[in-house]
Amino acid sequence: MLSIAELSAWYGAVEALHSISLEVHEGERVALVGSNRAGKTTTLRAISGIVQRRAASLTYRGVDLQGLPPHLVPGLGIAHVPEGRQVFSGMSVLENLLVGAYCRRGRDHAAQQERLDFVFSIFPRLAERPMQSGETLSGGEQQMLAIGRALMLSPSLLLLDEPSQGLAPRVVDEMYEALVHVAATGVTILLVEQNISMALEFASRAYVLENGVISLQGSAADLARDDSIRASYLGL
Ligand SMILES: Nc1ncnc2c1ncn2[C@@H]1O[C@H](COP(=O)(O)OP(=O)(O)O)[C@@H](O)[C@H]1O
Ligand SMILES: [Mg+2]
Repeated sequence: MLSIAELSAWYGAVEALHSISLEVHEGERVALVGSNRAGKTTTLRAISGIVQRRAASLTYRGVDLQGLPPHLVPGLGIAHVPEGRQVFSGMSVLENLLVGAYCRRGRDHAAQQERLDFVFSIFPRLAERPMQSGETLSGGEQQMLAIGRALMLSPSLLLLDEPSQGLAPRVVDEMYEALVHVAATGVTILLVEQNISMALEFASRAYVLENGVISLQGSAADLARDDSIRASYLGL
């Protein structure tokens, strides 16, 4: 579905990603894990085209993403939930969700309502407060809103950047349960997390990023048993 070969990315003259390769297959849940500043966010930005990048190959369902302006990426069915949620303040929950739907062309009112019902079924906490202003939500609710807004696009591929960041363990569990439901509807997920144990529980396969390079990859079960992962990231 998503095929990345030898992808590098830059901030000005500084190269932040060094020739990484990764694959995401239709229907998979894949995690990209690593410590702070490893290049996880940059990888998602490079896929979405919002950072300077170059790859030997960067394709989504056969479409070359390098030849595409970033504003056309959501229309392909790729929804990016950015780091730090970026909920629109001064806008209600409902308005935030409708902004998500706006990025998808050619949707009629009935389709939009159906999508809204779906998001509210996944996140009942949002359904309880459609008129509440985005910035007054709890951290967990804001994260749910950011994911809900992305789901309004009816994406085939969801790019999630550190959804558990700053959330209490109970809220993290609730959010990941919701993501399991989303994945069960056929949405493919590429998850970025610093919370490696959570990510390896959720994903079937994972890549470990260190200093802009992929250092390890494999099934989530194998990585969870890997001695270097257990020592470096899980404190075991
Ligand atoms: N806007 C930016 N300008 C310059 N350098 C950046 C910017 N964002 C990230 N970087 C650098 O790129 C590298 C990778 O960062 P990032 O992708 O944010 O890592 P992660 O998401 O894994 O924490 C780091 O060295 C970071 O300092
Ligand atoms: Mg990041």
